[in-house]
Amino acid sequence: MTTHPLSSQPIPNTWDRRGLPGWTYHSQALFDLEKTHVFLNHWQVAGHDSDIPAPGDWITFDMLGERAVLMRGADGTVRAFHNLCRHRGARVVDGPQGSCRGSIVCPFHGWVYNLDGTLRGPSQPGSFGDLDRSNFGLKPIEIQAFHGFLFIRFHPGPQPDIATLLAPYDADFTAYRAADLLPVATPHWTADLPVNWKSVRDVDNEGYHVPLAHPGLQDLYGRDYRDIFLPNGLNISIGRYGDTPGRLWSVRHYNRISRPRDHLPPHLAGAWAYYGLFPQIVFAFTPEAIQYYHEIPIGPGLTRLTGRLYRNPNETRAERLARYLAQRIDRDTSAEDQQLSIWSNESMRSSAFESFHLSDLEWGLRRHHDDLRALLPVMRLDHAPPEDRIAAINAEMLANPAI
Ligand code: FES
Repeated sequence: MTTHPLSSQPIPNTWDRRGLPGWTYHSQALFDLEKTHVFLNHWQVAGHDSDIPAPGDWITFDMLGERAVLMRGADGTVRAFHNLCRHRGARVVDGPQGSCRGSIVCPFHGWVYNLDGTLRGPSQPGSFGDLDRSNFGLKPIEIQAFHGFLFIRFHPGPQPDIATLLAPYDADFTAYRAADLLPVATPHWTADLPVNWKSVRDVDNEGYHVPLAHPGLQDLYGRDYRDIFLPNGLNISIGRYGDTPGRLWSVRHYNRISRPRDHLPPHLAGAWAYYGLFPQIVFAFTPEAIQYYHEIPIGPGLTRLTGRLYRNPNETRAERLARYLAQRIDRDTSAEDQQLSIWSNESMRSSAFESFHLSDLEWGLRRHHDDLRALLPVMRLDHAPPEDRIAAINAEMLANPAI
């Protein structure tokens, strides 16, 4: 067994094995706090440099009422803006991905913006009196890149810049040549699930369920799977494959076809590796491909699962086939996880639900809950406060940590 060079933070000898209380999965008032304190002020991944290779190319990213467009300018720089015309608020581009030729033309009344977001001019400018164009550019959004992946943040927040935050991943992303990846033909996928976003994370944040719930992954990894916990909400899960021929069709053929890539170090060469980022992003690397996936919360009981898939440049036929087989295994795994998320989420409405009782193998789930409690201490309360008091109680607990 080849171990990852990074060592994990230790799991405490004793810890509270309960998870978050059930009410935190169904409260609209808490969801509103999560919007502000967990999602819009934390880094969100929106795509990769290679999604928008030419000037005028764009991708969009929507979350919780905010709409972003990431566009490559005429100077080659990628910028992010609110996808919101300064005239009447229309989307200046519509859809997940596209390209503008030389300028952005709002589809409502035809205001024209340069590719750097500055306003070139309104249609019928004489009808606006004295309009100072310099005050009506598209509003910028903070954007930073890490090995080609494009991260945006709608509001300033507690995380450092993305290079500092993801520094522990730097060596592995370099080894995978992540900056050179290319999007596959289907640029992104989505699936809406009638659960709270935390129920999706709870399933994904631990490997204890893998042996029974995921026959494909179990067939692939056997026992060779481990979690590594790192500071600042980072975690790596890594499973090595190929030790057995594989019982399932996809695994058997994947093991036969997948080849370690020469440039990968031993700890990654025969492994599937998952790199997590708080609050809800995962980069999943195999030797043949990478996908990132994340949950976009829609409401307390509705979550959009989405992600994008990338491949190595100069992909061989064998790599393409291995990528197809890996996707088959992933597709089954995702469907299995979705069912587990639904069961977990609906259980919290039952009179029989008390709390989770977690294993050491589920420490990742507990750590995620602790990180959420640090941002929103009202989640420490076992019983649901009145909905109209949740924000005030949370503010009091933040101001007075002794409460
Ligand atoms: Fe964009 Fe009117 S809303 S031009």
